[in-house]
Amino acid sequence: MTILITGGAGFIGSHLVRLFVEKYPNYNIFNIDALTYAGNLENLKDIESRSNYSFIKGDITNGDFINELFEKYKFDAVIHLAAESHVDRSIKDPLAFVKTNVIGTVNLLNAFKSCWRNNFEKKLFYHISTDEVYGTLGKTGLFTETTSYDPNSPYSASKASSDHFVRAYGETYDMPYIITNCSNNYGQNQFPEKLIPLFINNIIHKKQLPVYGDGNYTRDWLYVKDHAIAIDLVFHKGKISETYNIGGFNEWKNIDLVKLLCRQMDEKLDRTIGSSEKLITFVKDRPGHDLRYAIDASKIKNELGWKPSVNFEEGLKRTIDWYLNNEDWLNNITSGNYQSYYEKQYNNLAIE
Ligand code: NAD
Ligand code: TYD
Repeated sequence: MTILITGGAGFIGSHLVRLFVEKYPNYNIFNIDALTYAGNLENLKDIESRSNYSFIKGDITNGDFINELFEKYKFDAVIHLAAESHVDRSIKDPLAFVKTNVIGTVNLLNAFKSCWRNNFEKKLFYHISTDEVYGTLGKTGLFTETTSYDPNSPYSASKASSDHFVRAYGETYDMPYIITNCSNNYGQNQFPEKLIPLFINNIIHKKQLPVYGDGNYTRDWLYVKDHAIAIDLVFHKGKISETYNIGGFNEWKNIDLVKLLCRQMDEKLDRTIGSSEKLITFVKDRPGHDLRYAIDASKIKNELGWKPSVNFEEGLKRTIDWYLNNEDWLNNITSGNYQSYYEKQYNNLAIE
């Protein structure tokens, strides 16, 4: 089987690519990634020379490139993760999110459709999406697969739109698809603009920790490797035309999470307990900030037997350990060096 994974140089994509390359030596795994600021091939340097793995630098907003790619490699399945993924950036530049998340997704759907000329037997288009499409919860309740879409940020609006297009191609052209909507991921290799890695980096450098608003916003956190395991399961066992919610059963108010992170970092860095907490600074709130996300993941649990395997305190410890042991990875990002990794390693191999 030949599988296209888009966005494989990003945070979740790199964990998924590694899992598939290592677990399925008989699959050919193609990772297509534009290497935007969020793409980092250093994430995959341990598997880059595997014979069942190929990287191609390319932009999903370029329809001609995508069509040629599909005609050349005839992917049996697509697992689509490539996206602009950060809410704060979407507030500053919504159009970039429309281009990649909406137009890029439709380019992939079109290429998949025309490659298989509407004969989709044993084919699959799997879209990796977010719980943010459902908008915000109040203090109680959980998102289920039947919760209405009600996105509030340009990021979530673009992901909602791409979900709708995937579903519409399924309904209109009988294209086999699955969508999963997952809660907030954390773990190693996450770009240090998202809450947890940003704050780990700031604590290392004794910089302020900017908590938005009063910090009483709630997110449901899932260890990234558990997400990759769930994707593997859904890819192989999920029902066509279904959506599955994936979550950590693990709600934390931002301020409580940040205090836990501060305590664990103080212990690891042999600093006086309480010293990192002093770095917390309450700052102007994010516009349109969703109060609470929380997933009811009972469908994937009951139908496919998935549940998270790593509890949050343990996952956070592993994450902190990884960032402390891989300060070069962080420093390469802060210095911009990570963006020359592709030229150094792949220049002669590019198939653009
Ligand atoms: P990320 O920002 O870390 O990685 C995105 C990857 O996509 C990068 O490697 C980037 O170079 C690539 N990319 C961006 N634009 C591209 C384009 N035009 N063409 C080709 N490649 C492009 O994102 P992530 O956190 O790993 O998220 C991956 C997917 O999972 C996204 O679709 C996101 O919406 C979804 N998701 C993320 C979370 C989360 O907590 N991070 C939760 C649920 C769902
Ligand atoms: P983030 O990691 O950006 O994920 P998302 O917005 O997709 O949930 O943010 C997680 C939560 O942390 C969210 O409620 C916003 C908040 N936050 C801060 O308080 N300060 C920050 O510097 C960042 C990046 C996020």
